[in-house]
Amino acid sequence: MLKLAQRMGRAKPSAIMAVAEKAKALKAAGRDIISFSIGVPNFLPGPHVYAAAAASLQKDSGQYGSNRGADALLDAFLLHIEAVGLTGYTRANCSTGIGAKHVLYSLAEALLDEGDTLAYAVPYWTTYADIAEIVGAKSLQLPCPASQNYKLTPAQLEAALATKPKVFLFNNPSNPTGMVYTREEVSALADVVARYPDTWIITDDIYNRMVFDGLGYHNFVHFRPELRDRVIFVDSLSKTYGMPGWRVGFIAGPESVAKAVTTLNSNHITNIPEVVTAAGVAALSGPQDVPTQKNAEFQAKRDQVMAVMNAIPGLICPRPQGAFYVFPDISCAFGKSHGGMKINNDVDFCNALLEAKGVACVPGSAFGEPKSLRISYTCPTPQLAPGLQRFQEFFAELT
Ligand SMILES: Cc1ncc(COP(=O)(O)O)c(C=O)c1O
Repeated sequence: MLKLAQRMGRAKPSAIMAVAEKAKALKAAGRDIISFSIGVPNFLPGPHVYAAAAASLQKDSGQYGSNRGADALLDAFLLHIEAVGLTGYTRANCSTGIGAKHVLYSLAEALLDEGDTLAYAVPYWTTYADIAEIVGAKSLQLPCPASQNYKLTPAQLEAALATKPKVFLFNNPSNPTGMVYTREEVSALADVVARYPDTWIITDDIYNRMVFDGLGYHNFVHFRPELRDRVIFVDSLSKTYGMPGWRVGFIAGPESVAKAVTTLNSNHITNIPEVVTAAGVAALSGPQDVPTQKNAEFQAKRDQVMAVMNAIPGLICPRPQGAFYVFPDISCAFGKSHGGMKINNDVDFCNALLEAKGVACVPGSAFGEPKSLRISYTCPTPQLAPGLQRFQEFFAELT
């Protein structure tokens, strides 16, 4: 029998999608399901984005486009990142892809040879481990439990970089925890990074506009401009602009890396479609009221979720300050039962919660932290309070 390539044996379908599929099946069977599972922003971009897409159809060139990304899109991106203090980049420092996921995959191909090491904090966004597997890289996972607010410390980073991983992948604000590194924390980590010149740094910071409490977004290069030689900033339209299905991701970094990603594009995707490019330019350079208003809404929803988390005895839940996730440590429930269902771990917990209360969350083990689960709180506002109430009731009913 003909076999698939060995790397496919290592690739796993997303655990997040598995929960979403189960919730969908229960819903189709008539159950009242509230989904806290998928990490989608659940809003649409402003009307100017659709107008730009429609206008682009009227003057379609019908041609292939630039492998790097259209000049107009790169220029809009450059202005966009200037607003968060990433100045001095040019088109030659940038490239694009079919979402940040594709861009991260291209970066893995561009930077990691088989057997090289990719270092990243745990909990991590599931795709990091999967991409490392597919390209044959080793993962160096740095545990950051709830007791340290799910954040990497300078000492941990120092110990990790001393082993000279080829790439350190940093994610701020974080999916799945929603935690945001403060100015001081990023500065301290940047000092460590600066001491270890043998490692590329990817900052997957696609939630950089979704920061609460006036905390601001900070990047290593703000504090150590010399790190521009090896820091690659990753961004996306998906979350900020409510455009996950449009599939536009970006990098800004060293010219050699941007060129490598562009070369991969020339062999994979060729270009981002013209109509999507037009929508992307409009999103980045048009009115910013939709993202601004949504960020305020998410901050209020974060408060609503945290009020319930703080009221559940035994639950440990660091207070997130960005993105749209809350990541409670639910290990106080392990060893207990709900309605005859024994809960030994996070997967049991999420299954019992879905069965008993119709609330879908993602088990923390999908993100490398089996003591926790992820709540994504972008569901329609009227569903949030009942979903949280069911979550709280579930805990109260544990025996
Ligand atoms: C941390 C992180 N990076 C990258 C991505 C991928 O985003 P995109 O939709 O641009 O591919 C996600 C999506 O959930 C994410 O949470």
